[in-house]
Amino acid sequence: MKARWADEWDGHAHDTLAASWLTPRVETWASIPSTNDRAAELVREEAAPWTIVVADEQTAGRGRRGAEWHSPAGCGLWMSVVLAHGLAPEGLPLVVGTACAEAIRSRAPEIAVGIKWPNDLLVGGRKVGGILCERIDDSVVAGIGINVSTPPGGFPAEVRSRATSLEVSGPRELSRSDLAGSIVAALRLRLTRSDPFGEVYDDLVAADALRGRRIRTEQAGAGTARGIDTSGALLLERDDGSRVRVISGSVRFADAPARPVP
Ligand code: BTN
Repeated sequence: MKARWADEWDGHAHDTLAASWLTPRVETWASIPSTNDRAAELVREEAAPWTIVVADEQTAGRGRRGAEWHSPAGCGLWMSVVLAHGLAPEGLPLVVGTACAEAIRSRAPEIAVGIKWPNDLLVGGRKVGGILCERIDDSVVAGIGINVSTPPGGFPAEVRSRATSLEVSGPRELSRSDLAGSIVAALRLRLTRSDPFGEVYDDLVAADALRGRRIRTEQAGAGTARGIDTSGALLLERDDGSRVRVISGSVRFADAPARPVP
């Protein structure tokens, strides 16, 4: 589907957003296949770090490992950030996820947001957001998808029992542009330090939604999650007591199912 430009997003002009987020450039699209694909194009055109693409709607939003990311108009934060050259992508989704969790907490303190290794944001056991970091040449594009106001019936049937949005989980309406601004500020704070992962580690441990849960990992089978180590690996304790470091792949809860949405 063809992309449609908009001069503003969430009621703010693109140059106003760029000035308030202290970024060199913000692209605002009414509809685009994927903000990550557009950000990748901009990297190839030598866009400066902190160039940001936001869209009201994505028609071909992508999740990890080729999954579709449902991105209906006006319902969420669909944003991609071009990150500085030279940042190691390992552990980056966890750094970005921790910054997003912190930003959500600052805008909606009543929402208990957790991080599900390696790239999910959870509320009440359900996925509220996801991070997709992609290396493009020497840069990384950090794609952030957060369901802000998607109603329970607004998710595709195959993810409906596992997905939620911030407004379904909390008592207030949230501004997507305020949330985006808080995320950009939190990201900048973390990523301009010499050791971004070390910088977020304590917050990540505090937000770890898997710790102590029965899980099934794609890479190493089932067991109990025992935290995330200082290199970003998930620690899995198998039923025989042995521990393995899981460094990639996806994870599912193997104990209680997600709570039904009221
Ligand atoms: C996942 O959970 O698998 C990651 C989802 C990432 C979705 C975001 S929305 C903005 C950006 N553009 C995309 O096409 N994907 C990311």
